Amino acid sequence: MSEGKLQDRVAVVTGAGQGIGEGVARLYAAEGAQVAVVDINQEAAQAVADSIVADGGQAVAVVCDVGNRASVDEAAATVVEQLGVIDILVSNAGVTRPAMLWKMTDDEWNMVLDTHLGGSFYWLQAVAGGMREQKYGRIIFTTSAAGIIGTIGQINYSVAKAGLLGMTRSAARELADSKITVNAIAPAASTPMTEVIRTDERFKDTYLQSIPLKRWAEPDEVAASYLFLATEEAGYLTGQCLSVDGGRVMVR
Ligand SMILES: NC(=O)c1ccc[n+]([C@@H]2O[C@H](COP(=O)([O-])OP(=O)(O)OC[C@H]3O[C@@H](n4cnc5c(N)ncnc54)[C@H](O)[C@@H]3O)[C@@H](O)[C@H]2O)c1
Repeated sequence: MSEGKLQDRVAVVTGAGQGIGEGVARLYAAEGAQVAVVDINQEAAQAVADSIVADGGQAVAVVCDVGNRASVDEAAATVVEQLGVIDILVSNAGVTRPAMLWKMTDDEWNMVLDTHLGGSFYWLQAVAGGMREQKYGRIIFTTSAAGIIGTIGQINYSVAKAGLLGMTRSAARELADSKITVNAIAPAASTPMTEVIRTDERFKDTYLQSIPLKRWAEPDEVAASYLFLATEEAGYLTGQCLSVDGGRVMVR
């Protein structure tokens, strides 16, 4: 059997209990990586890790609330203890708490910023030390079209995702001399998170019309771009955001 594109690399994928994160975890494992399936939902993380192992891959489930620094530090230590190092971080865990700005509560604002921005920053700090020592690393943040072109009814999410673009560019500059690349992906995929805009009569046609390719991708198709950014071949690509969204966001 030929070597996978991520043979013997150790990857952490947050929010890997379902959706895009699950697709990325499965593809990375199929390409030879040892994958830490990180999620706040213990049952979901364990089910994904078990099924990767049943398919002949290598995976462990790690429970973590990415919005809580102590939980992230503990999870990162567990991964290093079990798998030795961390070569690849995919920060993907996410939530939405939609509301028009004049109705949004502090809890809705804080929850979304803590999960996306806090979670990505805590994981960035947790992996950066080891990656700097080994002078190798691949970090991929998950942003969104909402952070690039704005959106209605999710100012918390849009602000968090826009912040991740700044985190990508600053971390890319700070970590470049350690041969660590830092990039972002703004995906669109058919997952539980997008169920309402894909199926609700009030939104589904308008949203689909805004996608030039006129279809939703499955998580596997989006995961292919996460794979490329995680490979050694992508070593000259850093500080960028790839929109993997059927062409919805083209110019920025
Ligand atoms: N699906 C899309 O079209 C789309 C579009 C733009 C951006 N995104 C982003 O992609 C990422 C994945 O989205 P998805 O559609 O797969 O979502 P999803 O809701 O299907 O899955 C999200 C996963 O994250 C986990 N999670 C939530 N909060 C967590 C926390 N505090 N700690 C650890 N895990 C937590 C959930 O348990 C779940 O398994 C998110 O960051 C989302 O904002 C998705």
